Amino acid sequence: MRNALLLVTSVLTIATGCGSASTALENGGMGSAGASTFSGAGAAGLGTSGAGPGSAGANSGSAGTGSGSVEQGLPCEVGALLQKYCVTCHSNPPIAGVPHALLTYANLQIMASSVPTSKVGALAVMRMADGTMPPKPLPGPTAAEQATYKAWVDAGMPMTACGTGGPVDPYATPVQCSSGATWKGGDRGSPLMHPGGACISCHSSGGDGPIYGVAGTVFPSAHEPNDCNGASTASAGALSVVITEANGTKHTLPVNSVGNFFYEGTIGKPYLAEVSAGMAVRAMVHSQSSGDCNGCHTVSGGTNTPGADPAPGRIMAP
Ligand code: HEC
Ligand code: HEC
Ligand code: HEC
Repeated sequence: MRNALLLVTSVLTIATGCGSASTALENGGMGSAGASTFSGAGAAGLGTSGAGPGSAGANSGSAGTGSGSVEQGLPCEVGALLQKYCVTCHSNPPIAGVPHALLTYANLQIMASSVPTSKVGALAVMRMADGTMPPKPLPGPTAAEQATYKAWVDAGMPMTACGTGGPVDPYATPVQCSSGATWKGGDRGSPLMHPGGACISCHSSGGDGPIYGVAGTVFPSAHEPNDCNGASTASAGALSVVITEANGTKHTLPVNSVGNFFYEGTIGKPYLAEVSAGMAVRAMVHSQSSGDCNGCHTVSGGTNTPGADPAPGRIMAP
């Protein structure tokens, strides 16, 4: 985890130096509201909400020129909410089946796909309040976090500088082996073997490997090479993988010291999967029928099932 955090810091440093993002902010011209953190701007914005939507509209043109995964223009509190609850799916590009990125100011100004009369940023207020975003079983923002976000939307989404940058795309990381340790045992049978490799496809192509219903590897970041040891813990505690069969039966699988997990038995397909550590969860939204997790969750992402959507990269610890 420590490596992943260091990496995030370096991505931030690069992107906050980006000229177009700061130019967009200057063009925004929000005066004192724009310069202060949102806690202040929100209170002011609520009193003068009539003026808000106009200036927000005028800003959106210049905001659209930002390019990187990090772009200033969102109040710190708004960026923090999106980072914590939304960007694992609303990344850039969004993961399969998700309509928009939620990383930048410009992203929030796009008209929504499901409600074309509403901006994505405004629709988010409703989708959080009715409990449909983030989708179950993921934990959603607290009432206080939602209230701060709503106040910013009610104020007309004023462009606001957050000195530490905006949300970071969790998939915009380089190929790296975070653990620094690799499997060197070749095809010698072991629960620690070939982390990141397609366990089921190799075991079923001959040899004496056990036949699993599901098997795979959890990593600390999105693009880790084959044979790199993954993770058994995250900051919130020991990892486990929960598989929910089509009929609702759940299997909680331990994640071993190299991130590998496996279940020797049949899984009713299609199934849903999530990775959890304490209360922290990452969940696969769509059900899958191949139990060979690493066959799709490769170093760069992909699919092992014709017609199925490609995974965004490795299975990551929450
Ligand atoms: C686990 C993946 C996932 C997470 C996490 C997630 N979303 Fe979504 N979101 C989706 C999917 C899938 C859709 C499309 C289906 C739908 O509208 O329900 C969607 C749609 C939306 C839409 C409708 C967009 C449109 O153009 O119609 C909004 C708004 C939205 N999400 C906001 C959020 C916010 C805000 C968060 C964080 C608080 C969040 N989502 C977290 C998966 C996710
Ligand atoms: C490139 C092929 C290949 C891949 C990929 C692979 N295995 Fe294996 N595995 C084997 C072979 C071959 C054996 C049997 C070796 C033997 O009998 O010594 C085996 C045996 C095993 C065994 C049995 C060990 C024992 O005690 O007898 C376990 C457990 C195992 N694999 C787990 C995994 C897991 C988990 C993964 C995925 C993360 C995986 N393997 C990926 C080839 C592979
Ligand atoms: C056929 C390809 C495929 C297989 C097999 C597959 N996945 Fe996925 N996975 C995806 C796709 C596509 C997404 C992104 C869309 C979604 O969440 O449904 C995803 C997303 C995820 C996510 C959420 C991503 C994030 O970072 O928040 C988790 C967790 C996950 N998968 C775990 C698993 C586990 C565990 C297995 C094996 C039991 C597995 N997947 C097998 C394709 C696959």
